[in-house]
Amino acid sequence: MKFAEFETFKMAYDEAGSGIPILFIHGYPLNRLMWQPQIEALQTDAHVIAPDLRGHGDSTPIEGVYSMDLLAEDCEKLLDHLNIQQKIVLCGLSMGGYISFAFARKFPERLAGLILTATRAAPDSEEAKLNRQRSMQVAREQGIEPIIESMIAKVLSPFTLKNRPELVQTVRQIMQRTSLQAILGDLQGMMERIDSRPFLKQIAVPTLILHGKDDTLIPIEEAQAMQAAIPNSQLLIVENAAHLPNLEASERFNQAVRHFLKTL
Ligand code: MLT
Repeated sequence: MKFAEFETFKMAYDEAGSGIPILFIHGYPLNRLMWQPQIEALQTDAHVIAPDLRGHGDSTPIEGVYSMDLLAEDCEKLLDHLNIQQKIVLCGLSMGGYISFAFARKFPERLAGLILTATRAAPDSEEAKLNRQRSMQVAREQGIEPIIESMIAKVLSPFTLKNRPELVQTVRQIMQRTSLQAILGDLQGMMERIDSRPFLKQIAVPTLILHGKDDTLIPIEEAQAMQAAIPNSQLLIVENAAHLPNLEASERFNQAVRHFLKTL
């Protein structure tokens, strides 16, 4: 683990390998450790970089709204810190996908390709916003534990939950390293995020969309809609996976990313 010191916080990150840079942006309420299988497998193909977003994992917890734009700017600062001038591939999962849209809007010149995993371009529905507010209240009153237990039940497939206790435990331990500030900041930031659907047709780089077949948190129709709207895009449905296909079906995921990199 390394740190980038910014004015307001210290950002932890892992990096390995050389070649085309791939920046992995984790989901909520996770951190860079969710990308361990990708860092291990893909460092022979690329320069893999996985930060902890502010307040997550080993990065400094700070209060405030973690808007998708702010989190995208943090990621761009990390590229500057690493002195990366080459165009990068950005791979975001779920909230990491929301941040990827913000990044692609703000810094299109930085991108060579986009990998959108288990994510959606649509904003929160009114019901989703109410759920976020309820979660924020639970987190303020009871801390992060109940949030994490309810997320574990939602992000993993029934097969994983029943048959892969070690993976369930790994995901739990990763989530437990999220600060209360980050849970609150993420929820508010996601709730306020803009509709990225009108932007999809402007995405000019090759885009790979990966979606777990059993994802109930973000239904497959969302991935299909993104694929239909992004000009140079392809969709791969990942079998035996729900909301965390990079962990639940890591070999298939890595193979798809490796293949995508070769086409760039
Ligand atoms: C995530 O996995 O990042 C979140 O579940 C996304 C969301 O809550 O919209």
